[in-house]
Amino acid sequence: MTWLVEDRLKPYAARRAEPYLTDAIKTQVAEKYFPRYPRKQAALLPLFHRLRQEYGYIPEQAIDETADFLGIARAEVQDAVSFYEEFRLTPSGEYVISVCRSISCELCGSRAVLERIRHVFGVDPGETTADHKITVLEVECLGACEQAPCALVNEDLHGHLEPDNFVRKLQALSAARDDQGRAAAPTGRTHI
Ligand code: FES
Repeated sequence: MTWLVEDRLKPYAARRAEPYLTDAIKTQVAEKYFPRYPRKQAALLPLFHRLRQEYGYIPEQAIDETADFLGIARAEVQDAVSFYEEFRLTPSGEYVISVCRSISCELCGSRAVLERIRHVFGVDPGETTADHKITVLEVECLGACEQAPCALVNEDLHGHLEPDNFVRKLQALSAARDDQGRAAAPTGRTHI
């Protein structure tokens, strides 16, 4: 009989010396959220939002740092981050296109929007273009059913989408960034 030995304690991703949870982020979260709740754990989701705002995704190293900061198990952090589709563990493109797939939007043509994006940019939901410009996601109801079909471009809502027009806007947005050079921050509010 042979025992296979596997080192499960080794880091699953390359770590960087500089923490993702900077002192500035910790202070911001602690001052704003800790006084509101009896347990620090309640600041978990606001902290994820802050990380996503800063980096565009939740770096794996930040999961450990978050667990230490909030005094909870790493598994609890991992559970939470993997539960919500808004939080990604891999870097996103400059523009995250979140197309609603819930019933109103589906009935009003969200599949055609996704199909047009797939045709023009060559990406399916969950994928990022090779130039890291566009990430496409399918998400549940955005709470704007009266504007179906709709999508978010980063954090901005776009409703009554017509596939060709919407894709043209995305192409123009992407080209405009090419002219201006890449933005310093990978995400942020955009207007098209
Ligand atoms: S179903 Fe798409 S916003 Fe509600």
